[in-house]
Amino acid sequence: MSVCPPICLSVCLSLSICLSECLSVSLCPSACLSVCLSVSLSLSLSVYVSVCLPLCVCAGPELLETRTARPFSFSFNTSDYRILHMDQDQGRLYLGSREYLVALDMHNINKEPLIIHWPATTQRKGECRMTGKGGQGECANFVRLIEPWNRTHLYTCGTGAYKPICTFINRGWRAEEYLFRLVPGYGDSGKGKCSYDPRQENAAALINGNLYAGVHVDFMGTDPAIFRTLGDRPAVRTEQYDSRWLNEPVFVKIQQIPDSSERNDDKLYFFFREKSLDGAGGASPSVLARVGRVCLNDDGGQRSLVNKWTTFLKARLVCSVIGSDGVETYFDELKDVFIQPTQDLRNPVVYAVFSTAGSVFKGSAVCVYSMSDIRNVFNGPFSHKHGHNYQWTPYTGKIPYPRPGTCPGGTFTPGLRSTKEFSDEAVNFVRAHPLMYHSVYPIHKRPLVVRTGVDYRFTSIVVDLVDAVDGRYEVLFLGTDRGTVQKVIVLPKDTSTTEELTLEEVEVFRPFLSHSDTQQQLYVSSEMGLTQVSLHRCGVYGKACSDCCLARDPYCAWDGETCSAFSPSTKRRSRRQDIKHGDPLRQCRGFNAKVEKRLSETVQFGVEGSSTFLECQPRSPQATVKWLYQKPDGRRKVLSRDREVLKTGHGILLKSLSHADGGLYNCLATENNFKHTVARVALRILDREIVEALTSPDGPPEDQNPHHHRHPHHHPPPPPPPPHNLPPQFSSQPEIRLINQYCQSYWQQLNLNLPTKRTSRRHTESQPEPAPGAPRQS
Ligand SMILES: *[C@@H]1O[C@H](CO)[C@@H](O)[C@H](O)[C@H]1NC(C)=O
Ligand SMILES: *[C@@H]1O[C@H](CO)[C@@H](O)[C@H](O)[C@H]1NC(C)=O
Repeated sequence: MSVCPPICLSVCLSLSICLSECLSVSLCPSACLSVCLSVSLSLSLSVYVSVCLPLCVCAGPELLETRTARPFSFSFNTSDYRILHMDQDQGRLYLGSREYLVALDMHNINKEPLIIHWPATTQRKGECRMTGKGGQGECANFVRLIEPWNRTHLYTCGTGAYKPICTFINRGWRAEEYLFRLVPGYGDSGKGKCSYDPRQENAAALINGNLYAGVHVDFMGTDPAIFRTLGDRPAVRTEQYDSRWLNEPVFVKIQQIPDSSERNDDKLYFFFREKSLDGAGGASPSVLARVGRVCLNDDGGQRSLVNKWTTFLKARLVCSVIGSDGVETYFDELKDVFIQPTQDLRNPVVYAVFSTAGSVFKGSAVCVYSMSDIRNVFNGPFSHKHGHNYQWTPYTGKIPYPRPGTCPGGTFTPGLRSTKEFSDEAVNFVRAHPLMYHSVYPIHKRPLVVRTGVDYRFTSIVVDLVDAVDGRYEVLFLGTDRGTVQKVIVLPKDTSTTEELTLEEVEVFRPFLSHSDTQQQLYVSSEMGLTQVSLHRCGVYGKACSDCCLARDPYCAWDGETCSAFSPSTKRRSRRQDIKHGDPLRQCRGFNAKVEKRLSETVQFGVEGSSTFLECQPRSPQATVKWLYQKPDGRRKVLSRDREVLKTGHGILLKSLSHADGGLYNCLATENNFKHTVARVALRILDREIVEALTSPDGPPEDQNPHHHRHPHHHPPPPPPPPHNLPPQFSSQPEIRLINQYCQSYWQQLNLNLPTKRTSRRHTESQPEPAPGAPRQS
């Protein structure tokens, strides 16, 4: 199938942006059409795809085929999607959004979703607006928490139009029951469980029937706390309005991590960022990343810190790089944390994503922390304000017993039954010294991944461990604020340095990530929607052994025919994979010649006097590209910069074509000393006057061509009619016949492939029923 290469392409959320992008992209040659197509992902989300194409409009096949991301596409009026819980047992994914709860099938998020409509009452919404809130639509119930309660029920909370509410959901014993409904007549206050303001992030975990939540507990959003509610233990929180404990925090993650085999030592770790106490104008940063912890069995103090944590401690998380000029750059704005379990329950690996706090310098980093380093800091000195200029110093005085931060009834305190038995001295110490003196540094004292000098930031992270032929690799999926997910692996280069490889970048939208090992799927949610992406998309690396090998994707291996998903259990001798070196000369001996022959020649038309774009995208982002030009007489030469050639990451732009530019262009990629031809384009030059006849506003084809940018369409338009009204001297041209055939087959292709827009409303209130399976999208 010959496809017209998309010349320039952007995906955006509004038609006006699309049009301006489309028109302003300088790569778009004058003789091509600018088109904005609307691709509907759900009722609330349409993206506009701008495509600039030569002569005939060929927006689709490439784009649609490689879109292996599968968006959730049911139409109901909502926004602000969040993945709130993955239920591996029932194979379901629970999603919260504005006024809706959704249970999705993890295999296929578009199959039989169960939807609950859970709005705030009209009266409550009215009261909310009376208080002056709701300017951005916040007077609604934004669902922010779904946690498993028991085998059959979930517990859920929402902002309830600035009056948080919680309730139970019955989800049945098994997925096949298709049960998902609110427990009728039940409702709980959500105070201390969910924030009032939907824009304030919260983090929560339901452990042994107790809900631990990092939230803002008041209407004004000025009283942040780590709260314990529900269950049989007394309600406990952090000290109120004490900036030494929490200073305008943003909660990112809460997780129980055992400290020893003694259950009484179990602790809750929480990750957040907060304003620095010394930040104002000084040398220290304005925002700091923190790890904090409390004992699960903390019931508060007896005489002081009554119903407050008596074991609350926190420490700084450092993530920084030292530049070649010796200047240290700190990444302090903690964005997301992923906790990778290991064989040892007490020692999961903590991956954290940071960005720089300022607006001047954009940068992000991933740092990895070990639990033993975190524990060492909590076992070290406490921080203490001391001296003339009130410096932070390590506390050197006598430390009370039990050491602050120790849990009652644990390994070191078997004689104490409750925190209420702690001495006043110990309780008062912890109240005044919640901060540890030392900071937690990442493993190897440096970030795993750093991005600087780019115009985006990382926002979220998920890590998957992959067993490949030559070992185990950690694959990072990093969400960015420009609506993509990057798939990155980091390889040791030698003993002290590492090499970071970006395997691919998938366009989604501003993401919150979650993933499932068993399903091999990545789920991406955002304000605007939900998308399911396969962890491996080996097909995108192409059929060649060399491409598969150079891709160095540990999920993929060349199986003798194509690049396909690799799993160690189905090991076969013919599987070729080389993550460490990516050396196709060694891995693919004898297979490459075959591939070069298979590479077909694409015919492309250029217009005399205008420009054209030759696409060449090596599968691997690490390759360097060179173009060879072969004249019709067989002479080859390297295309150099002296001519009117503009090189881009996607190919080259030839400016102002003449008939002499016709010929064969070979795009040669080199990576790891391995050279191979990636694209072969036969360029034919069309006479200017033919093209003018075809594209002139008075000409017959353009009259009926609905794709011009001034008439954007929301649906794939009908095939353009064949140019039978052309002046006879043109329609007899072989090129015109070819172009026409080509457009016809393209439109057939497009009509088959475009997703059909769903319009059925499928939400039910407290009365869900199995929905019929939705057609799978290609
Ligand atoms: C969707 O919800 C918003 C906010 O609640 C509302 O303003 C809008 O009118 C709704 N749109 C439709 C089509 O119901
Ligand atoms: C789960 O909890 C709900 C709400 O408290 C209760 O109604 C239900 O009976 C419980 N189910 C089981 C199996 O314990």
